[in-house]
Amino acid sequence: MCGIFGYLNYLVKRDRRFIADILINGLHRLEYRGYDSSGIAFDGDSINSNKSDERTCIVVRQKGKVEELEHAVKSLENVDWNGEFSVHVGIAHTRWATHGEPNAVNSHPQRSDEQNQFVCVHNGIITNYKDIKQYLTNKGYKFESETDTEVVIKLVKYLYDKHKNEHITFQKLIEMACSQLEGAFALLFKSIHYPGELCATRRGSPMVIGVKCADQLGANHIPVMFSKDLRGVFSPPLMITDQTTADLAVTGNNRSIEYFFASDASAIIEHTNQVIFMEDDDLAVVRNGALTIHRTQHEVSGQSTIREIIELKIELQEIMKGNYSYFMQKEIFEQPESVVNTMRGRVNFNTKKVILGGIKDYISEIRRCRRLILIACGTSYHSAVATRQLLEELSELPVMVELASDFLDRNTPVFRDDVCMFISQSGETADTILALRYCKQRGALILGFTNTVGSSISRESHCGIHINAGPEIGVASTKAYTSQFLALVLFGLVLSEDSISKESRRNDIINGLQKLPELIKQVLNCDKKVREFAEELYKQSSLLVMGRGFNFATCLEGALKVKELTYMHSEGILAGELKHGPLAMVDDTMPIVMIIMDDPVKIKCMNAYSQVQARGGQPILICNDDDEELIKLENRRITVPRTVDCLQGILCVVPMQLLSFHIAVLRGYDVDCPRNLAKSVTVA
Ligand code: F6R
Repeated sequence: MCGIFGYLNYLVKRDRRFIADILINGLHRLEYRGYDSSGIAFDGDSINSNKSDERTCIVVRQKGKVEELEHAVKSLENVDWNGEFSVHVGIAHTRWATHGEPNAVNSHPQRSDEQNQFVCVHNGIITNYKDIKQYLTNKGYKFESETDTEVVIKLVKYLYDKHKNEHITFQKLIEMACSQLEGAFALLFKSIHYPGELCATRRGSPMVIGVKCADQLGANHIPVMFSKDLRGVFSPPLMITDQTTADLAVTGNNRSIEYFFASDASAIIEHTNQVIFMEDDDLAVVRNGALTIHRTQHEVSGQSTIREIIELKIELQEIMKGNYSYFMQKEIFEQPESVVNTMRGRVNFNTKKVILGGIKDYISEIRRCRRLILIACGTSYHSAVATRQLLEELSELPVMVELASDFLDRNTPVFRDDVCMFISQSGETADTILALRYCKQRGALILGFTNTVGSSISRESHCGIHINAGPEIGVASTKAYTSQFLALVLFGLVLSEDSISKESRRNDIINGLQKLPELIKQVLNCDKKVREFAEELYKQSSLLVMGRGFNFATCLEGALKVKELTYMHSEGILAGELKHGPLAMVDDTMPIVMIIMDDPVKIKCMNAYSQVQARGGQPILICNDDDEELIKLENRRITVPRTVDCLQGILCVVPMQLLSFHIAVLRGYDVDCPRNLAKSVTVA
């Protein structure tokens, strides 16, 4: 939901302007996670004073987008922007409100008191915050915000005051505070009492650490290890133990190093591609330039005790807008490449073989399963709806598609011989993760389909497929949808590879896959035409999207795009259901898009078209570019090239993505940041 960013430089001289820019820039990269307010905290000039009551921490918080925070930071008075620090800690946050309306006081960093002795930024929800707040209120603490986060930082201050004479470490203090917290969180802490130190912890919300050795000696493949005998909540830390990690554990070595902490690697990649993904209940501490990772909970058997530095392959330009005005627009136009990346190294178009390395050891187990259950939210759920029919056909297994929240609400029975497939662009969606854990506890085999390496879903799955769509920044999912769709098709092809009776169907699909990138390029040429329809539609208050068969999911997905970007009412309607209710909405004023492909359900779709016309409806058709019958019949049309029926949805969704994009632009809305929404929904 929210985006966290932190930066610490150790023995690398940086002026305050540079530090503020790094923090603000980190927030810009994370803005897609939430954007109703933002804030930063950084050290005052007196941070090197020996007396902690002389040290200061500057906090700036602002309602609105990061741009407004940037403005507020620039207009700070009495700040020496050229002042240099060789050790400095800054933390930053972009918020998507869960507790308390978006305003400056509810923004993060939240602070312990008016002197900003302790400050923190938080992503997630503290479910027992009311109890802690009551406890602290009884002790005389006064709260200025309505947030659950303020409770955390006041608790830290309370514990600090209580244990002051014991010279407690920052790490121990944070461990103590976090042991009282329930809920989901990723937290970053800084304090004037612990200058040059930063603590980060997570439970249920993502956090990644970037490491940059400023002298370029590199931190490649340095294993970060936990001591095997580490047990208990307050046990001594498990330090980086491997010899080579002396490079990283720079204490006493006077080694210059920079650390970046973020909710998402996309905020770090321009600084370093060396990252460590934190696990739940990890507490990362930087002190004297050394990073150590401690466990705040008993080890769970089977849990990895190694935190490896991973080299990320994302390129900076992948997360920049390039020549496009919006990330969403760029991502729509990237689809000819992103589908290639999903297939790369997996599909051999000559031998007609598909290999999915991430699940290859589990194929026979999957084939023997009782049923396939596809579980996801939003757009990712639509990719499951889009491919269900094909998966049923190719696997000959019962296939259920489930919305994660509803699946959990129903306490759906799950068995050891079920295969549960979790589809998620971010890999961090709370409902999907909870459903995953629910199925795992019941012994099902867990497959993750995600776009985010190192995400919670990819780590907690037994096996899975990375969809390789590349970073998706626009809040509305586009290229991740087509890549999820495609990854599920590849999965179906792998399941059916031994079936002689399906060979010809498989070959048709694989031939279709080969042409897909080119066909998507052709569809993108309809952009101008789509914009003309957008001009006709953008003042309307409603848009119905109708279709059936393989394209029912396209209707759902198209309507979701329209809703979330344009704030218009929009519904995806199964054409077979039209006469059971929705037809009542149709008259000569109701805007309608109908998707009619030249496939086995075309005749039924044509019936729906006649019913709509008979009520005065004037639908815009999305149809095949070689369907003479429809081309003669309807001038108000957008055409897409023909492909295999089960892949047609990948082409048909593109005009709907473009239509929602253009309507939103014409309405004057910020396409990349639709109101009330966040890219990664890490609260259930
Ligand atoms: C809509 C959209 C959302 C997400 C949903 C699940 O454009 O992006 O509906 O699909 O929040 O997110 P992931 O796929 O990250 O689990």
